[in-house]
Amino acid sequence: MSVLKITGGRTLSGSLRVQGAKNSALPLLAASVLTEGLSVFRNCPRLTDVTATVDILRHVGCRVYEEGDALYVDASGPIRPEVPDALMRRMRSSVIFLGALLSRCGEVTLSLPGGCELGPRPVDLHLAALQNLGAEVTQTSGRIRCAASRLRGGNVALKAVSVGATENAMLAAVRASGSTVISGAAREPEIVDLQEYLRACGALVTGAGSSVIRIRGVEKLRGGEKRILPDRIAAATYLAACASAGGSIRLYDASPRDMVPILRVLERMGCAVKTGENLIVLERQGPLVSPGPIITRPHPGFPTDAQPPLMAAVLKARGSTVMIETIFENRFRHVPALRSMGADIRTAGRTAVIRGVDSLRGAKVRADDLRGGAALAVAALAAEGETEIRGMEHVLRGYEDMAGALTALGAEARLTEKAE
Ligand code: UD1
Repeated sequence: MSVLKITGGRTLSGSLRVQGAKNSALPLLAASVLTEGLSVFRNCPRLTDVTATVDILRHVGCRVYEEGDALYVDASGPIRPEVPDALMRRMRSSVIFLGALLSRCGEVTLSLPGGCELGPRPVDLHLAALQNLGAEVTQTSGRIRCAASRLRGGNVALKAVSVGATENAMLAAVRASGSTVISGAAREPEIVDLQEYLRACGALVTGAGSSVIRIRGVEKLRGGEKRILPDRIAAATYLAACASAGGSIRLYDASPRDMVPILRVLERMGCAVKTGENLIVLERQGPLVSPGPIITRPHPGFPTDAQPPLMAAVLKARGSTVMIETIFENRFRHVPALRSMGADIRTAGRTAVIRGVDSLRGAKVRADDLRGGAALAVAALAAEGETEIRGMEHVLRGYEDMAGALTALGAEARLTEKAE
């Protein structure tokens, strides 16, 4: 078990490069199987979720290797349209292989990802989108099979905004016969990244970033090259860390235009935020104040993934902060651990009310999910004494060397391995 120990009380200073985005890397890597060539991904973050995706790629028949900062996926050989249960279970986003393998092979069999720590994670929107494009779906004892000798373009009207279902629909449509219009599409920057990669491979896709995506199917795709966009949630976490600890930090290779609602919240808390082309500078000198209500929404609203680290940053902010989580049912799992550090948080359903306290104290806590674990680190920086965060495996799924990053910014942070 990985354990992060943080001794609070030090202000942060210095510069940090923002890692490539996990939520872009995973669908892009999955998408590479529907090309019949060699793809190159630059700025790919080194994360356990990326390793799990690479394991699936190798299982289905791709050759994957690293050279310098680039990850190569060679999908030119025969591809096996099946993913075993053990590989699927390692990460929820493996569901993107559904559209990718169906598109490449005309069929796919894999197990359903099931629920996760954030609550039930249905795939009804994914399946409805694939059925709209001509796939036949059959389910038997946890395994799901989709087949279509040739997918055909059509209208895919998503009933609710879903990042993953939008991605699956795009992957199924790019090699379908005829044209597809996806309406009600998610508008996240990661969808734009996927469109850019697919276009580099020869796909005819437009509209990503808006709620209508138009695709004209092509017979085949070649491999493509893509630089993965900066991780806005990792950036938000380190900005929240500086807001929490105080001081001044500079994030480079960042994408401030994708982070507007997060930056506004930090400003309303009393932080000075300056942005440049790929740069964010945050300074927090005085005391923090409540930023007012925060409601999570699909992009371009405030992202659900930034809710836990920002909650940790407002624990000592003067006044009360209301946070409403509209995307996932079970996204306050970090609250009991924050309370054990002295936070004053009340929750009712999907609403949390945080009353600013004068001080936090270090404690032995446990990360139950990826962003919730990051929130504990943010709180620990502002706590008196040492905090020991167990269950860091969850956090390492999405953050490249978090202890190293915090140490580089002047925090006292150390990752150790312990027997269970
Ligand atoms: C992606 C992100 C995740 C982020 C989430 C919301 C990746 C790898 N993960 O997850 O970090 O928190 O977007 O921004 O990119 N839903 C259904 N039926 C479906 C699919 C989704 O009801 O078939 C619901 C979900 O339960 C959830 C909401 O739609 O309440 C949004 O989920 P979705 O956008 O699909 O999230 P993911 O793509 O899984």
